[in-house]
This record gives sequence, structure tokens and C-alpha cells, in this order.
Amino acid sequence: MRLYYAPASPFVRKVVVLLHEAGAADRVALVPAAGSPLDPGTMPLDRNPLGKIPALERQDDPTLYDSRVICRYLDDMLEAGFYPPAPHLWDTLVLEATADGIADAAVLMRYEEHVRPKASQSPEWLEAQWTKVERALDSVESRWMSHLAGPVDMGQIALGAALGYLDFRQPHRNWRGTRPALAAWWAGFSQRPAMQATLPG
Ligand code: BEZ
Repeated sequence: MRLYYAPASPFVRKVVVLLHEAGAADRVALVPAAGSPLDPGTMPLDRNPLGKIPALERQDDPTLYDSRVICRYLDDMLEAGFYPPAPHLWDTLVLEATADGIADAAVLMRYEEHVRPKASQSPEWLEAQWTKVERALDSVESRWMSHLAGPVDMGQIALGAALGYLDFRQPHRNWRGTRPALAAWWAGFSQRPAMQATLPG
């Protein structure tokens, strides 16, 4: 299998962390693909018509895309168990969606600041994205800490990818300031070998 990837993408990182955590990093070759919202760049459109990464090319089956689809597929194929059975599944999926929403808003901020021409940039739009990130982080701090104390699942992996991306692209925003429990969890989780092997760059 081949994974179209960019080392900075938090959505790619989810997939690669899952592979490392499942002891299967050698099952997937990483193929660099660089693009932007304005131009799919080197991401082949016959693999993903949206021109987005990650996309997982399979030997005899159609390419899969969207990190949530790829993660569900790999978890199933590898019997990794990062999606527990229902009813716990619903918590895992909501936490994954919350983490993906954080990453999504932060990636949009990056594009606004680095892809859109300076004269067209909107400070209000940028701050609205950050407000979304703040609200989601507050909800994790107030209602998800017991889940984060449990076994590693895809919600935790997605949250790790999102927090790593905030540290990478928004280091000046001090998300830890009012969220001591989440900061403490991240201090430990970020040291896992799978996280250390996939630092954004
Ligand atoms: C970034 O450079 O921040 C980035 C690159 C690819 C996908 C998402 C974000």
C-alpha cells in the first residue's frame, strides 16, 4: 500500500501514528504529495478527485481517502482495536471528530496566513477559526479527561495529531494556559514512540 502524505499534515499524522501503534509502519510506503487549496500540486487527482491528502492506494482495490475512512480501514485490516465496540465507539468517534475539527480550523488558519495574499487576509476570519479551536479544547478539558485516561484509541490518536499541529503552527497561542489537565495528558502522550516517530516537519 502507498500513502500520499505530507509530513506537516495532522490528518496524515493520524494515519501514520495508527500504523506505528499497530506495529505496521512497514506495511505502507510513504509517497510525498504537496498541494494547497489553490492547487492540488503533486497529489494525483485520479487517486483522490478532491486533490487532498492523506490518500491510501491499495494493490487491487480503489484508493481510500479522508483520514477517518483510512483509519477505520487500517484498524479493521490490522485488527488494531483503536475503534472499540459500541457503545464506547460513539465516544471514540466524537472525540476523533472534535480533534479533527481542531486540526481543520488550524490548517485553515495556516492557509489563510500563508496561501491567501496579504491584502485579502481577514483577521476576523482567522480569530473565528481560533475561537473554534479554543471552544473544542475547553470541551476536552471539561468532559474528556476520563476518556483520555483510558486505553489508547483513535480519539486519543487524533487529539495527539491535532495538539502536535497546534504546537507546530501556532506555538505562540499558549493553548495550555487554561487547560492544565489536557496539557498534562499531552506531556505524557507526546512521548509515546509512535508520536516521536511522526513529528511534523
Ligand atoms: C502545513 O504545512 O501546515 C500543512 C501541510 C499539508 C497539509 C496540512 C497542513
